[in-house]
Amino acid sequence: MQIFDVYPKVPIQLVNADKYYVFDKNDNKYLDFYGGNAVISIGHKHPHYIKSIYKTLKSISYYSNLIEIEQQNELSNKLATLSNCIDYNLFLVNSGAEANENALKIASFYNGRKKIISFKKSFHGRTSGALSVTDNLNFQSNFNKNNNVIFLPINDKESLYKNCDESISAIIIEGIQGMGGINEIDSSFMQAIRKICDKYNIIMIVDEVQSGYGRTGNFFAYQLHNIKPDIISIAKGMGNGFPIGGVIISNKIKPIMGYLGTTFGGSYLACSAAIAVLDIIKKENLINNAKKIGLYFTNQAKSIKIIDNIKGKGLMIGLCFKNYDIKYIHNTLLMKYKIFTGLSGDHKTLRILPPLNITYKEVDYFLNILDQKL
Ligand SMILES: Cc1ncc(COP(=O)(O)O)c(C=O)c1O
Repeated sequence: MQIFDVYPKVPIQLVNADKYYVFDKNDNKYLDFYGGNAVISIGHKHPHYIKSIYKTLKSISYYSNLIEIEQQNELSNKLATLSNCIDYNLFLVNSGAEANENALKIASFYNGRKKIISFKKSFHGRTSGALSVTDNLNFQSNFNKNNNVIFLPINDKESLYKNCDESISAIIIEGIQGMGGINEIDSSFMQAIRKICDKYNIIMIVDEVQSGYGRTGNFFAYQLHNIKPDIISIAKGMGNGFPIGGVIISNKIKPIMGYLGTTFGGSYLACSAAIAVLDIIKKENLINNAKKIGLYFTNQAKSIKIIDNIKGKGLMIGLCFKNYDIKYIHNTLLMKYKIFTGLSGDHKTLRILPPLNITYKEVDYFLNILDQKL
């Protein structure tokens, strides 16, 4: 049996990692400015993270959600404190797509409606519901395409007002669009969504799967805009590589016994990984580090001649280049200079998504390569 061949792969086999570096089987060292697609938040192989998972493995790693799992309460309390999402509840799942799938379902349970507003260049995951609100026809199969989703341009209030009424169940928007090319949402647009959701009893879902967990210099990217969503979906940085996701649900939405479920979501092991991540983010002040280093990166990058435009916040950065093929830049950085970065759906934007504990030194090294070698 072979692996079902759906990923365009680079010929590198990684065997080890440390902080913001990964190592291949030939002992080559790579700087990780991709974080495995914004997943590595606290850095690779953090000793406290390893210890926490190992301790759980030695006691009990799994039982079903039929019983009380105290670690779920510890996780939700710590998440509430660090994210400042106090009047919310948490449903634990295994991935970003699953978080969005549940978010859309919860909205529909809440108001009984089925139409969704999503946005052009959005990405919300590969399960059927999450995919139906993802603006990429190449990923859609006939099975999951449906007529219940309207895609609008971001930051366009006119089209938002024109398309909202009492038939809409939810509006789903990323905190900052990631796969679409690091596209920021205006504060006034986020606030307009909040207002129109209140007017028509629409559920506002903010997908923070990529932009959350401190990456943008706030715990959540939406927190820049002075609004509170009804539902926030999370994953990626939450487990630093351990598969875990979550749906953070406003208190105004009441749970109904049995209406959601998962076998693996919220297991002891997943919780121990996610608790360790929160402890480390707090102890090492990583949200502040993301803000500080991100700002430094952006300021320094402005003087590099081949860079045309810099987008994003904190350590969720999009670089656009003058007259350069982005695939060439991505490939040259990886194969020649041993630096991982991320492509995006926008063929002009390179995504920079390093672990949140990087320092000035790695930024200087990276920008020097861009400036002097490319
Ligand atoms: C904003 C956003 N939402 C959802 C997802 C899907 O997450 P997962 O791959 O964990 O299902 C992604 C993945 O890239 C994402 O960037």
